[in-house]
Amino acid sequence: MPPAIETERLVKEYGDLRALDEVSLRVEDGEFFGLLGPNGAGKTTFISILVGLVRLSGGSARVFGHDVVDDYREARDAIGIAPQEFNVDRFFPIEEVLMHKAGYHGITHDEAKERAHEVLKTVGIYEKREQRFDWLSGGMKRRLLLARALVTDPDLLILDEPTAGVDVELRHDLWEIVSDLNANGTTVLLTTHYIEEAERLCDRVAILDHGEVVTVESPEDLMDRGTDTIYVTLEADLDAPPALDGYAIDAWIDAGRLAVQVDDGGAVAPRLLRDLSDGGHEVVDLEIARTSLEDIFVDLTERSGGIS
Ligand SMILES: Nc1ncnc2c1ncn2[C@@H]1O[C@H](COP(=O)(O)OP(=O)(O)OP(=O)(O)O)[C@@H](O)[C@H]1O
Ligand SMILES: [Mg+2]
Repeated sequence: MPPAIETERLVKEYGDLRALDEVSLRVEDGEFFGLLGPNGAGKTTFISILVGLVRLSGGSARVFGHDVVDDYREARDAIGIAPQEFNVDRFFPIEEVLMHKAGYHGITHDEAKERAHEVLKTVGIYEKREQRFDWLSGGMKRRLLLARALVTDPDLLILDEPTAGVDVELRHDLWEIVSDLNANGTTVLLTTHYIEEAERLCDRVAILDHGEVVTVESPEDLMDRGTDTIYVTLEADLDAPPALDGYAIDAWIDAGRLAVQVDDGGAVAPRLLRDLSDGGHEVVDLEIARTSLEDIFVDLTERSGGIS
């Protein structure tokens, strides 16, 4: 089986702007792959080339071995995409929107209706099937985009920031649905700004910055790159942080609390508490702030010499 996605030195230029700068990526069949990066990194551009919405300027891209330019139809038929922006026919009942989509991919009328109902149930908006897109709530619109991506039963599911601005319940629903699909063999390409989403779902992630691949690794390794900050509230306020041996990268007083920057907050916290207690400080409260994706982006792009 060829890889689900394989790009070689993929380039996209918009005038003087290089939105993709020789991106070579390989996503294996069955993988759950994350594409991360700051705004404007080129994530949506990359995806749009795979589905033929944007024409590449150089290099090549294949989906399950089908070249996205020369074998456009085969490549496109393998993909279901839930785009970042809503682009749905607003005047038809959503059930028909899904049937049109299936029809476009060569699925017969009766089967299309069956598939439409099935995916509307999967995403939990079956009872809204006769309503127009306009009449759905924001969260239901996200659900519909996923349903539309699934109606053709794609081998590669592409989700471009599917949980941007949705509530916690929908986020967890979406996670469960796509995890199940992936467990049943669907390859998933996901873009996200939420580190917990990448950690929870992805086997590997690529970080894109200014159109270049900065790194490809597991979300766990990515998290290990960042630092955590442990905030400790003490019974008696300190004027300056106490001396902490070895594990503290930095320590300071933040709004009356002791802040200690460390590599791994969970692992270090017990030792920090012991040290504080040994030093005669009584601990009232403790909070561990984990590295954010933004911190990691900044760290990685500084290291790679990019400008942020
Ligand atoms: N049609 C276009 N014409 C000109 N420039 C474009 C076009 N589409 C995208 N760009 C530019 O290409 C770059 C990459 O944009 P892209 O939408 O791929 O980023 P992204 O990583 O998806 O960002 P976000 O996280 O904000 O969605 C940006 O600088 C953007 O302004
Ligand atoms: Mg985007």
